[in-house]
Amino acid sequence: MKSKRNKTIDFDLAHAPKEVLDKIIHPENQHLLDPKAIRDHIVNGDSFQILGQLPPASIDLALIDPPYNLDKHYDGLNFKQMDDQQYQQYTARWVKAVLPLLKSTASVYVFADWQTSIALAPLLSQYFTIQNRITWQREKGRGAKANWKNSMEDIWFLTKDPHHYTFNIEDVKQRRRVIAPYRQNGHAKDWQETKRGRFRDTLPSNFWDDISIPYWSMAENTGHPTQKPEKLMAKVILASSNPGDLILDPFAGAGSSLVTAKKLGRHFIGIEQSLLYCAWGQYRLNMANHDSRIQGYTDGVFWERNTMAQQKRIINNKKKSAK
Ligand SMILES: C[S@@+](CC[C@H](N)C(=O)[O-])C[C@H]1O[C@@H](n2cnc3c(N)ncnc32)[C@H](O)[C@@H]1O
Repeated sequence: MKSKRNKTIDFDLAHAPKEVLDKIIHPENQHLLDPKAIRDHIVNGDSFQILGQLPPASIDLALIDPPYNLDKHYDGLNFKQMDDQQYQQYTARWVKAVLPLLKSTASVYVFADWQTSIALAPLLSQYFTIQNRITWQREKGRGAKANWKNSMEDIWFLTKDPHHYTFNIEDVKQRRRVIAPYRQNGHAKDWQETKRGRFRDTLPSNFWDDISIPYWSMAENTGHPTQKPEKLMAKVILASSNPGDLILDPFAGAGSSLVTAKKLGRHFIGIEQSLLYCAWGQYRLNMANHDSRIQGYTDGVFWERNTMAQQKRIINNKKKSAK
């Protein structure tokens, strides 16, 4: 029996609500899909087939979290580790399918672990400008006896055009506690004194240490084996798209990018081969109709880990003043 605090979404297909299953799109033929019908939907099927059915030059931002080059079981799909050359061929297949769909100003983020990156980066650099490599410090990782434990992931930030692309740095500020508050003429310099402590809103770097992987007590958590956090998706979406833009995720999993896009007023198209993962993603999209909070992103800024109490106070104060 699950504990009451365990919010994990892990129903099986037999228990998937009808209003969830009814929303998922199942393309039946090779024709171009109707852009209006697929916008803000999850398409169930194989991306390598479906990408060719999407309207060209329509995507502002692609968030791509493909199977890493590891043995992994995804409901219905056993991904087998390949040699680097084979993984590059696999990557080139989805890159070639995604490229025609991108607008000339589009950005692309690709997720990987360090080993996958060795094969991935040289291939990506043939098709895109690599703008940055973000290190996401995850706190969870399997211990290793004869090696250093892995507790980081790479996020490759790519653009189609080297100079023309969206980047909203002011929208992704990070609220940090001030350890050594500096005063000038008795006044706080670049930080705020609040009832809850001293804070400074800083511009983010390419080292992200403020984001945990989803866990069982979080409303966003599902049974997907490699689900990304909404807070992480929120950073890339806010920085690299504008409200109303169209976001593509061809390996959508349990829908983290799609749900976050919806919460932040962007449009989206997700593709996922597993109907079960599509259903978990759609269930979360339906939840977002009533609750658009993103854990760790409160009051228009990203908070450090272990600051839930401060964030809750802000949310409660806002609720009180709205009454
Ligand atoms: C790394 S996971 C993505 C997780 C996702 N970002 C999330 O937050 O839930 C990769 C996903 O790609 C799906 N997948 C793999 N190959 C696919 C294909 N050819 N077409 C569609 N989906 C595919 C897998 O089922 C898996 O859910």
